[in-house]
Amino acid sequence: MQHSHGSDVAHSGVCPQDLLARRINVLGPHTPLFYDEPLHLVRGEDVWLYDHSGKRYLDVYNNVPHVGHCHPRVAEAMYRQASTLNVHTRYLHNNIIDYTERLTATFAPELSMAMLTCTGSEANELALRMARHYTGGQGIIVTDFAYHGNTEAVAEIGTGFMPEARHTKRVKAFAIPDSYRGIEGVSQDQLAAAYTGQIDRAIEEFAAEGIPFAGMLVCPDFANEGLLNVPEGFMEAATALVHNAGGLLIADEVQAGFGRTGKHWWAHQWFNITPDIVTLGKPMGNGHPLAGVIARPELINSFTSHSMYFNTFGGTPVSCAVGMAVLDALEEDNLLANAVSTGAYVAAGLRKLQLKYPIIGEVRDRGLFFGVELVTDPQTKTPAPKAARRIINLMKQQGVLISVIGVHDSILKLRPPMPFRPEHADLLTHTLDKVLNQVSEELSHG
Ligand SMILES: Cc1ncc(COP(=O)(O)O)c(C=O)c1O
Repeated sequence: MQHSHGSDVAHSGVCPQDLLARRINVLGPHTPLFYDEPLHLVRGEDVWLYDHSGKRYLDVYNNVPHVGHCHPRVAEAMYRQASTLNVHTRYLHNNIIDYTERLTATFAPELSMAMLTCTGSEANELALRMARHYTGGQGIIVTDFAYHGNTEAVAEIGTGFMPEARHTKRVKAFAIPDSYRGIEGVSQDQLAAAYTGQIDRAIEEFAAEGIPFAGMLVCPDFANEGLLNVPEGFMEAATALVHNAGGLLIADEVQAGFGRTGKHWWAHQWFNITPDIVTLGKPMGNGHPLAGVIARPELINSFTSHSMYFNTFGGTPVSCAVGMAVLDALEEDNLLANAVSTGAYVAAGLRKLQLKYPIIGEVRDRGLFFGVELVTDPQTKTPAPKAARRIINLMKQQGVLISVIGVHDSILKLRPPMPFRPEHADLLTHTLDKVLNQVSEELSHG
């Protein structure tokens, strides 16, 4: 297939300031944008992005282009299927069967059935409906800094970001399990029990308020929460509590899935647990809107026999061809193994920087997902959001794209496309070294 980069030329005459003004006019001022000076991108390839002036950026942020920006295999599969047939799922077609068979094979045997959607929000909404239908409950437990999407039911569980979450009785939150800061007065050994104690209490409170319990929905990587390392045994104990109370465990793998964390396909597989429902999205279609729910057959059959579920664009032949090409690329390019080896290499580089710069309080790594906790002082562990913001903007100026997460926006979020290699890691750590040096100087001069 021919790739045309003619749009670069067309775009190169556009002034980003004009584009920004027009954007605000037509999309409003509150549609989020990254960076103090927004970036005007025109092209992507592998781990690289190019702006309107032709400047190249190393992408250490975007997980949606999972197998690399504009992967030729994915683009080709999309083009070929879109030129042959694209219809909704109320006809027989091989693609959806081949794809969901292959996808479900990466899960525990009991998680053998799938429903496809277009977004992670839809997948989580569907998972909530399914869990509430199956258990007859309403109450859902989430972390106290959760984001799981943008529909009404999902906004209600978005404790970190959505006003809707403050005005509902159906949702209770527990503090993000955090081995770095822990809970004052609680020893490391007791941490898992202290955090699961909060889940126990939430279940009791639902019962006391007459709200039957439906389950717990968490990202098993606690990604939006700051990629916290949870105390050992926490997930297993929390899952047992939820199940003993008749609830279901929903694992939101929208960010953490498809081998991102290395070694395993799914982040929940790091723990000795099997969720009842798993939700998928973002990297699933490498940028094409493909998402879904994987669950035990009785959950899906019970829900779909009660409530018709149809999603016009979910699981079309084109979407499934794209999803299949993503799986092919992951396997053929050995990207899970790369997440393990390059991930360890990046983590080692970041830990070297931690020894040099006291502003780095903790480096967290899971495969090709990193959280770098910035603090004003390693003893007090006071979050350093201003420095974080300065760092991401300076990194961008130097041609490396990263972002921030966490309750205080003080944790650098590094989550590159999966073909990230050691030479890219060297560029990342070299640039971060320079930027940390500059920011440390600035801080020392007040
Ligand atoms: C963990 C998690 N779940 C769900 C979603 C929602 O996915 P989507 O934007 O595709 O609706 C997001 C999006 O950021 C997410 O981070």
